[in-house]
Amino acid sequence: MSIQLNETAPDFTARTTEGDIRFHQWLGDSWGVLFSHPADFTPVCTTELGAVARLKPEFARRNVKVIGLSVDSLDKHRAWMGDIAETQGCALNFPLIADDDRKVSTLYAMIHPQADGTHTVRSVFVIGPDKKIKLTLTYPASTGRNFDELLRVIDSLQLTAKHKLATPANWKQGEDCIIVPAVTNEEAKKLFPKGFKEIKPYLRKTPQPV
Ligand code: BEZ
Repeated sequence: MSIQLNETAPDFTARTTEGDIRFHQWLGDSWGVLFSHPADFTPVCTTELGAVARLKPEFARRNVKVIGLSVDSLDKHRAWMGDIAETQGCALNFPLIADDDRKVSTLYAMIHPQADGTHTVRSVFVIGPDKKIKLTLTYPASTGRNFDELLRVIDSLQLTAKHKLATPANWKQGEDCIIVPAVTNEEAKKLFPKGFKEIKPYLRKTPQPV
C-alpha cells in the first residue's frame, strides 16, 4: 500500500549514521523530509547527499529536519560518507538510515518491484509538525532530485499551513498567492489587508503576507 497525503507518517525505530532513533520522537515539533536512495556507492545518490548536506542551513531555517535512507548497512554508509565528503565539498551532516532489513522501506512502500525488486526508488516524504504526510514524490533511480524545488514546495506548504492561501504554478517566495475558494470576498477583505485582485470569481490573487 502506498503512503497517501494527510495520513499519519508511520513511526519506526532505525539505526542511522547518527545513532538509533525513533522517528516521531526524532522529528519532535519540526517538519521532516524522509528520502530514499537506491544504494550506497552509486553516483547519482552521492551527488544528492552532497546537495542536501550543502542545503542544510536552508532546511534548518524552515524548521525542517532531513533524514536519508538506503538499504545498505551502517558500515557501508560510514565508508561511503568518506567519499561524499571527499567529492561533494560538504560532509554528510544529517542521519542516513541503514535499512538493510528493508523494514522502513517496506513500511513506506519505497520498493517498487516493477522498477527494482531489491532497492528503493527515489522517494521523498514531507511530514508536517502534526506528523501528517504533506507531500510525496517518486523519482526513478536514474534521475537525481531537484532539492531547490523541494525547498520551494516546503515554502508553499508552510504558507498554506499559516494562511488560507494556495500558490500558483511556478510560484516562488515573494510572489502573489491565490486565495482558496472556501474564502468569500468579504472574508478575504479582512484576511488580506493588502487587497486582492479578482481575475475570475474562482481566481483571486493577493500579495504574499509577510
Ligand atoms: C545512482 O545513484 O547513481 C544510481 C543508482 C541506481 C541506478 C542508477 C543510478
